[in-house]
Amino acid sequence: MAVRPILRIGDPRLREVSRPVEAFDTPELNALIEDMFDTMAAADGAGLAAPQIGVPLRVMIFGVESNPRYPDAEPVPTTVLINPEYSVRDDSTVSGWEGCLSVPGMRGYVPRYRAVAYKGHDQFGEPVEREADGFHAVVFQHEYDHLDGVLYPDRIVECDKFGFEEELVAAAMQAEERAGA
Ligand code: NI
Repeated sequence: MAVRPILRIGDPRLREVSRPVEAFDTPELNALIEDMFDTMAAADGAGLAAPQIGVPLRVMIFGVESNPRYPDAEPVPTTVLINPEYSVRDDSTVSGWEGCLSVPGMRGYVPRYRAVAYKGHDQFGEPVEREADGFHAVVFQHEYDHLDGVLYPDRIVECDKFGFEEELVAAAMQAEERAGA
């Protein structure tokens, strides 16, 4: 087990389309999953995709119990998802602030589908199939994008709602003071 370095935006490996996993329950795959959980935990992440540690495979993990980076987030089941597919269950969008371990220190306001159904396999080859909405659906869509070389800044529509978290928090506090809140 090991915490692996996380690639940051600008590294071209984050922009590649990752390839499917062909064999389940191998020592290599199980070691990758273990390293991904160690890496995600060390960074207080809500999810991690294999290309973020330089492994171009369609593997993602996610899960939130309580997370200091997302204090208001509802719980998301701890999940290993390999070769995922999804369909949109509600094509209305809901926007929220996202961060990414590959875009450290920054947040952006990103529209996502409200509800999706996803399926794939865990590392042992067992099928995983779920419907997700709310933060669960957001985390899934964010991690899925990593497998296609897409990062959340690509999805931002309101470009003024993107910046360093410290500046955004300071601006929000000033706005609250002006409003007398
Ligand atoms: Ni990310």
